[in-house]
Amino acid sequence: TGEDGFASRLLAWFDDHGRHDLPWQHPRTPYRVWLSEIMLQQTQVTTVIGYFQRFVDALPDLPALAAAPQERVLALWSGLGYYARARNLHAAARACVEQHGGALPRDLDALVALPGIGRSTAAAILSQAWGDRHAILDGNVKRVLARYHGVEGWPGAPKVEKRLWTHAEAHVASPSLPGGRLPDYTQAQMDLGATLCTRANPTCLLCPLHGDCVAHREGRSGELPTPRPG
Ligand code: ADE
Repeated sequence: TGEDGFASRLLAWFDDHGRHDLPWQHPRTPYRVWLSEIMLQQTQVTTVIGYFQRFVDALPDLPALAAAPQERVLALWSGLGYYARARNLHAAARACVEQHGGALPRDLDALVALPGIGRSTAAAILSQAWGDRHAILDGNVKRVLARYHGVEGWPGAPKVEKRLWTHAEAHVASPSLPGGRLPDYTQAQMDLGATLCTRANPTCLLCPLHGDCVAHREGRSGELPTPRPG
């Protein structure tokens, strides 16, 4: 592997064991990636798949979503919960029509300015939809990086989160991560966190990163990331 084994090992693992058949990967348009990321913020992949398909069958692109009445959007969301996500999605689509010519902007700050899109979600959209080089840091990735680098402290604390972002950005900048593989690299991190580097009972011996993982080496995978204090 190259100077950063994190990216290259993760990609090799993803080729064999990652998820390649998710509906928003085929075709991987910005609208479909965005919708999937909002649904996946608080809902598991297996549940999202059916709702995603129904939603895009009814509202196949951003202008269709923007033009739909709010009740229609909420009805399509019905069962997924956290309905603020659906209201934000709808408001963001309308903002894109008014401010960005009816498409999602290909720009991190412009995406973050839209309702319901935080920094990690914006990065996940840009990296998957366009292959742009941006680091993500959602709950799963925080856990992977806290263990891999042995980062102490609750990842919700600003100082700890900042350190994790620094690690995430160093990995994504690695020359051993080819430009064409940004969508896979982003998905691979989520898949690793969801399937092997789980909160409870992680499957370290199957993990492509365990040889360089501080938590695994020190027998501390069960203690990292540090739980929320109190
Ligand atoms: N959670 C957020 N985004 C995700 C994705 N693309 N795949 C799996 N889980 C996710």
